[in-house]
Amino acid sequence: MEPYCKINDIIKEAIKDITPPESIKIFDTTLRDGEQTPGVSLTPDEKVEIAIALNNIGVDVIEAGFPVSSLGEQEAVKKITSLDLDAEICGLARAVKKDIDVAIDCGVDRIHTFIATSPLHRKYKLKMDKEEVINKAVEAIEYIKSHGIKVEFSAEDATRTEIDYLIEVYKNAVDAGADVINVPDTVGVMIPKAMEYLIREIKKEIDVPISVHCHNDFGLAVANSIAAVEAGAEQIHCTVNGIGERAGNASLEEVVMILKSIYGLNTKIKTEKLTDLSRLVSRLTGIKTQPNKAVVGENAFAHESGIHAHGVLEHALTYEPIPPELVGQKRKIILGKHTGAHAIKAKLKELGIEVGKNVTEEQFKEIINRIKSLGDKGKRVTDADVEAIVEDVTK
Ligand code: KIV
Ligand code: ZN
Repeated sequence: MEPYCKINDIIKEAIKDITPPESIKIFDTTLRDGEQTPGVSLTPDEKVEIAIALNNIGVDVIEAGFPVSSLGEQEAVKKITSLDLDAEICGLARAVKKDIDVAIDCGVDRIHTFIATSPLHRKYKLKMDKEEVINKAVEAIEYIKSHGIKVEFSAEDATRTEIDYLIEVYKNAVDAGADVINVPDTVGVMIPKAMEYLIREIKKEIDVPISVHCHNDFGLAVANSIAAVEAGAEQIHCTVNGIGERAGNASLEEVVMILKSIYGLNTKIKTEKLTDLSRLVSRLTGIKTQPNKAVVGENAFAHESGIHAHGVLEHALTYEPIPPELVGQKRKIILGKHTGAHAIKAKLKELGIEVGKNVTEEQFKEIINRIKSLGDKGKRVTDADVEAIVEDVTK
């Protein structure tokens, strides 16, 4: 696929040696890690509504929940598996028989099982040595496989684990039957260069698809996920609006649009549905999306400065990387103290008022002055304000 934006020579040169896969699978964990956002708790019916929207937008895998965590969670996951969606439905389970049995009982297609591997977690949380951790992982994977269910295996806190040991864990997991290996950056401490290195090292030894799960503690979840793809990772864990534990996870809409627009890499996501999906998740979780959020934020395609508004009105790509419609957004020209004559003329036209026909050039100058002076008072000028100004100026 050709990248959506005409990428420039600088990017082409910079990424000429990367080895990404042909297409990337999107594993959505909005209903599991996303629901671990402090203060968020979805009812089974709300989870079903989000699962249907995730399926309709084209995600490959929906992590529907962590079934052992509560009866409500089991009810939700069962409801989702009974919908017979196109997306694979996955349930999370610690590498513990009880968790796995509950996930199996919910009818999931895939079980995402995990055990921590870092020295910190081994010592303080699990109180296990290296060998015990490997044995638990292998036991869990073999047990799931004995039920004929697909396994995705995560080494929790992978990015703070000794690399030789991490690779040994993954090799044992693959030998035990793991279908996908996931690399969680559990506390978001990676940087893109290191993620690229780590994925390349793992890929040398492992021949099943590699996935990444990046947290956003330093704001690098998306960048680290993309770096993993550059090194050959085939699947990315994402959440809608980037919600999740602490500072959240890699945001689905950002990951998908970077892959499509800059790298020209395929996912199955129908990008024109991204903004509706974002709003649905925001409404049901109660987590507001900040206005300047990339891709789906209120302001992502809004222009106020006179220079910018003039630019986009002449040619949209002057101040927009992609057309807003591609992600289900609309371009907005915001009127305020920074606005110029071009934007105001365009806004009047949108309201059915033409300069030279309904208002004179003189009146137009007065309309501009009044709009700017409202802006100077700190007001965001609405369509109703503009109509009132025009009425007053032309009476
Ligand atoms: O962040 C993490 O490590 C997780 C695991 C359950 C994979 O969410
Ligand atoms: Zn996580």
